[in-house]
Amino acid sequence: MGWNSWNYFAGRVTDADVRAAADALVSTGMRDAGYVYVNIDDTWQGQRDRHGVLQPNSKFPDMKALADYVHSKGLKLGIYSSPGPQTCAHYAGSYRHEKKDAATYAKWGIDYLKYDMCSYGNMMDKKYGKPTAANAEQRLAADKAVYEKMHKALLATGRPIVFSMCQYGWDDVWKWGATVGGNSWRTTGDINDTYKRMAEIGFGQAGLAKYAGRDQSSGHWNDPDMLEIGNGGMTEDEYRTHMSLWALLAAPLLAGNDLSRMTPATLAMLTNKDVIAIDQDPLGRQGDRLSQEGMQEIWSRPLSRGAIAVGLFNRSQDPQPITLSLPAANMGPNAKLHDVWANQDVSATGGSYTTSVPGHGAVLLRISQ
Ligand code: GLA
Repeated sequence: MGWNSWNYFAGRVTDADVRAAADALVSTGMRDAGYVYVNIDDTWQGQRDRHGVLQPNSKFPDMKALADYVHSKGLKLGIYSSPGPQTCAHYAGSYRHEKKDAATYAKWGIDYLKYDMCSYGNMMDKKYGKPTAANAEQRLAADKAVYEKMHKALLATGRPIVFSMCQYGWDDVWKWGATVGGNSWRTTGDINDTYKRMAEIGFGQAGLAKYAGRDQSSGHWNDPDMLEIGNGGMTEDEYRTHMSLWALLAAPLLAGNDLSRMTPATLAMLTNKDVIAIDQDPLGRQGDRLSQEGMQEIWSRPLSRGAIAVGLFNRSQDPQPITLSLPAANMGPNAKLHDVWANQDVSATGGSYTTSVPGHGAVLLRISQ
């Protein structure tokens, strides 16, 4: 959990914005709710010096000082690069400088690396041709190799650095991301601040649950991309769907809004304790779709101590009643239901629970035996 600069600041992000985000994580209580990574995305990079050591550009005058500042607040600092020669925003990538860059990050005190395919995809196109059945094996091997290379370079620094893979779900990355050292991997192309795109990504995650889980390090997680909550393009009900789905998906929760200017409603949504507890549940099992009927979807996620989380989603524009059958969710007729967003207990009758769900909205339940 943390924050990332891209969704709101994109190429404009500066040292001051990152410090302001760190300050806000502390002053708003988000850090204490679990949001500890402060992640600088693309456009921080400058030139390499004559030893090949990458320097930040003028927007980031002193990366070590920035890391010290972020650490002094009880937070961790993340950074961004690409296995290609250029990042997606055409800044310097780590191609042929993997070891040096990893060492530089460790020296600065970096705790997290998002490693974004970008121009390495073009290199694969040139070398093997655009993806076809005939070159699939070669491309997969190259895809794995570049990620493994950076994973090893990070390991060699001796500093624990979360490795966040970003290659848009190519080559069914969920099947092998963990074997090349990924702690998370993006499962799709980029999110944007619309219900259409968020829903397309979120509801498109069915079937991926078995690839996520805890391990001795930071675990290995499917990453449906960063949050758009608070950026203004969706209604409150739509953002509630976004947050509910991501929690059911055990997804990384990386806020992507301007933390120093957020509304109380945005803050409340991002810091809802019960929702965060679902996302971060110690069992570490991702949820999946339980049923789909027209524009209604029900998703469920196993939680520790035999409990489950259930999301009732209405993808239509108008309010609709949605019915959850407890046996269908493998729960007994006497199960206890808690409506998480409404923060109230509710009760099932005759083994089922029916409630009205707003258009594009969600009801999130925590159910225990
Ligand atoms: C890609 C990634 C985004 C972001 C941009 C930055 O599009 O998927 O998340 O990092 O690059 O250029």
